[in-house]
Amino acid sequence: MSVIDEVKQRTDIVEVVSQYTTLTKAGRTFRALCPFHSEKHPSFFVYPEQQSWHCFGACNTGGDIFSFIMKKESIDFGDALRLLAQRAGVKIPSRFESEAGKDEKERLYQVNQAAAQYFQNLLLNSPSGEKAREYLAKRGLSQKTIIDFQLGFSPNSWNNLKQYLIERGYVQSELLTAGLVIEAKGEETHDRFRNKLMFPIFDIRGRITGFGARVLDDSLPKYLNSPQTLIFDKSGSLYGINLAQAAIKQQDLAVIVEGYMDVITAHQNGFNNVVASMGTSVTPKQVSALKKLTKNMALALDADAAGEEAMLRGVSYENTLDAEVMVIILPRGKDPDDIIKQDAKIWRHLLEESLPVVDYTFNMVISNLDLTTAKDKAVAADKLLPIIAEIKEPVRQAHYLQKLARLVKVSERSIEVALSRVKPSQGRPKTKESATLYPLLTNRLEEYCLALLLQHPELKQSYQGPSPEYFQNTENREIFITWQQVNDLPSLMEELDPAIRENLHSLIAKNLPSNQIEQKYANCALRLREEFLRSLEIKRGEVLALVAEAGGIDAELAKLQEQGIEVSIQLGEVFIQKARRGQHQRR
Ligand code: CTP
Ligand code: MN
Repeated sequence: MSVIDEVKQRTDIVEVVSQYTTLTKAGRTFRALCPFHSEKHPSFFVYPEQQSWHCFGACNTGGDIFSFIMKKESIDFGDALRLLAQRAGVKIPSRFESEAGKDEKERLYQVNQAAAQYFQNLLLNSPSGEKAREYLAKRGLSQKTIIDFQLGFSPNSWNNLKQYLIERGYVQSELLTAGLVIEAKGEETHDRFRNKLMFPIFDIRGRITGFGARVLDDSLPKYLNSPQTLIFDKSGSLYGINLAQAAIKQQDLAVIVEGYMDVITAHQNGFNNVVASMGTSVTPKQVSALKKLTKNMALALDADAAGEEAMLRGVSYENTLDAEVMVIILPRGKDPDDIIKQDAKIWRHLLEESLPVVDYTFNMVISNLDLTTAKDKAVAADKLLPIIAEIKEPVRQAHYLQKLARLVKVSERSIEVALSRVKPSQGRPKTKESATLYPLLTNRLEEYCLALLLQHPELKQSYQGPSPEYFQNTENREIFITWQQVNDLPSLMEELDPAIRENLHSLIAKNLPSNQIEQKYANCALRLREEFLRSLEIKRGEVLALVAEAGGIDAELAKLQEQGIEVSIQLGEVFIQKARRGQHQRR
């Protein structure tokens, strides 16, 4: 998920706008005095389902949360993003990382590496490492594995590591920033990791970002990890990625397990495409990191966790990856480490039996239902439709619609109608862009139009192009606007906020037809205009009904009606132009 999507997901336009003007609930919308111009009668509306706003008064314009903040605070897109991200608690990469910051990070990688060497030396060679060596032998780890993963042992002492590192020229504040020592009372610090088996955590480039540490017996807590630091974010790390990346690329599949030992045992047995999410459920950040290596992922989960994952995040990851996410269901009470040690064949068998997450959800939901009864048919539809609604890929969405229709023995058409009414299960209750097939197509259309424009700059001169407001997708709109202001792609890259650049790359690389470019561009713009007018028409209609119902004043009604006529006329023009184009094309 992009930063922008994350911000959108965690932000409710109603909450944000209500900090600038008093919103009153009106039907499915919220109404207010327009925060952009002064007025006596409220003509400003917020649509929570679409997460959009529109002023039907003097402004006669609208947009999404980003355009609202940009307009209201008079700031550019990047600043609006930062403001909203901060509000939503989403971390965004800063535009330019200072050189000083780079040096500081470099130092932290070094100190971690030095610590790992110290721990490993103790494990391999010291008398105090004996019980750790025994423990690892008991768990079946080979010498090669111990070396490959740079495992180590932290001594049972308060400051051996600290002393060792200080002798090598590191200073106390660096050890603190790296999370290797803890500040106790006053100024005193002591080693964080004591008497533990040490698992260095590497990033994809082989740098040590932090440590996991396990007790050598059954005491609790079993694991202790580095705290969040400048270079360590547990929720974004994947244990084993440094050693797994080649195999992941080669097999075009990443298997994600939970724990350190699961990864280690898998690798020791030749399953080299395995990484661990380290205890938590897989995060969007981890999925994005893996996406650079493969789009195919299989999550090893126990039945309960699989159910939850399937319902909560499965489809959203599929949308991110543009591929199916598979689930490997683990036998109750066993983790991959146990299974592989018992018999690698069982693990191989479980891999083969893995299911696409949506199919798994289907099985899970219907296993408790009697689909001959009307009641349970409704339950199945209730639970599965929001998940189907979330699937972005139209062919796969259609596939599961069909599957559901067959299961409940209801016509596909009625299931489709039901689908158009549901909201996807993800996030807060609002209709996201993937709610129905239509906005989905609109987004494709926007991207197509933009790709044409970016790859054929001469189209910028065309009078038949779209207006910025036709773009419903924030990133697309921002790219479109910025492109009008610059001369070439490098300048566009420079101007665009880094959060949007990724989108740009895919647009520039999009495969496009090479003939009749201008005509295709004009067609596209026309269709976007139609979408825009239609959605405006719906919004205006809702508002008109509300105002009339509340016995609104005549002038207000007249104005809305006038705007309605205006929209109808414009839509009419679109239809005429479309018809003309149709004729041209037939000729
Ligand atoms: N974990 C963690 N911090 C904790 C608990 C768990 O980081 N306090 C992560 C570790 O990466 C751990 C994984 O979650 O490997 C799974 O935890 P758990 O199932 O408790 O441990 P196992 O990996 O099975 O450990 P072991 O086999 O050594 O008992
Ligand atoms: Mn285990």
